Amino acid sequence: MSVPESTYLSAVWRDNIFKDKVIFVTGGAGTICSMQTRAMVRLGANACILGRNASKTEAAAKDIATARPGAKVIGIGECDVRKVESLEAAAARCVKELGGIDFVIAGAAGNFVASIDGISSNAFKTVMDIDVLGTYNTIKATIPHLLRSSTPRIIAVSATFHYTGMPFQAHVAAAKASVDSLIASVALEYGPRGISANVIAPGPIAETEGMARLASSKPEQIAAFAKTIPSGRYGTVKDIADATVFLFSDAGSYINGQIIPVDGASWRRQGAY
Ligand code: HXC
Repeated sequence: MSVPESTYLSAVWRDNIFKDKVIFVTGGAGTICSMQTRAMVRLGANACILGRNASKTEAAAKDIATARPGAKVIGIGECDVRKVESLEAAAARCVKELGGIDFVIAGAAGNFVASIDGISSNAFKTVMDIDVLGTYNTIKATIPHLLRSSTPRIIAVSATFHYTGMPFQAHVAAAKASVDSLIASVALEYGPRGISANVIAPGPIAETEGMARLASSKPEQIAAFAKTIPSGRYGTVKDIADATVFLFSDAGSYINGQIIPVDGASWRRQGAY
């Protein structure tokens, strides 16, 4: 699939700023994380992406590799972030095949729309396990390798729901609050050893599956909601990819322990939904 560069990266970045760098991404075949990875690869990085679905992950890896001639992108399927051994094996393979790990995106997440009494305790736990334990496992498995990098950085992909609470997303909001907290502790504990860790909190992103579903079933709701977003539009995967490139670039080197909503100020209106 040919993906025009203007759909995932602004024209403000220089070629090869991530030359010889390696990025390790959980949930790397997903809508947002695949474009974060593509942007990094386009700008010189090699990548290892992980997912639970082998064929989807391998296809995404091949596709992302087309962003730059000579790019190496490994797709590791059947990797469940709830199992730390699975991540440790993937990190070891990444280091063996690509030479190290400089940047990590903890992007794997579970999500469905459901009321608090409409889901089982196991459903709640499943989202907590994927999002919170999965982020912890990703960091645990990659820290030994990051400590050998000259530019070790972590980004967790979170959300903005927990700033106000969110109906039908209580499980996700609770999980993402924990992810934010975990990243703050990583920044404090590993900052002195050179690692920076930040959160990107995407707002309403037009291209996600959930949004596409809503757009086809309730287009009027999508249009009405856009008017409530202070920046006047939905976000794009490009907005998230650009923020990622900034944080991983030298320009972002002193940003540590921060939660960065990329949401057009949307969360400030959340209470009014
Ligand atoms: C209610 C549900 C459910 C649903 C699953 N469950 N889907 N309950 N509504 N739609 C329940 C099941 O019945 C089960 O409980 C428990 O959850 C575990 O389900 P499994 O299918 O066994 O789990 P698993 O195979 O691990 O699936 C995980 C999943 C799945 C989260 C449930 O939907 C998934 O992996 N989805 C793909 C990933 C995804 O959604 N990515 C989008 C992330 S975007 P019982 O009691 O029956 O055993 C994101 C955005 C955040 O997170 C916000 C950004 C702005």
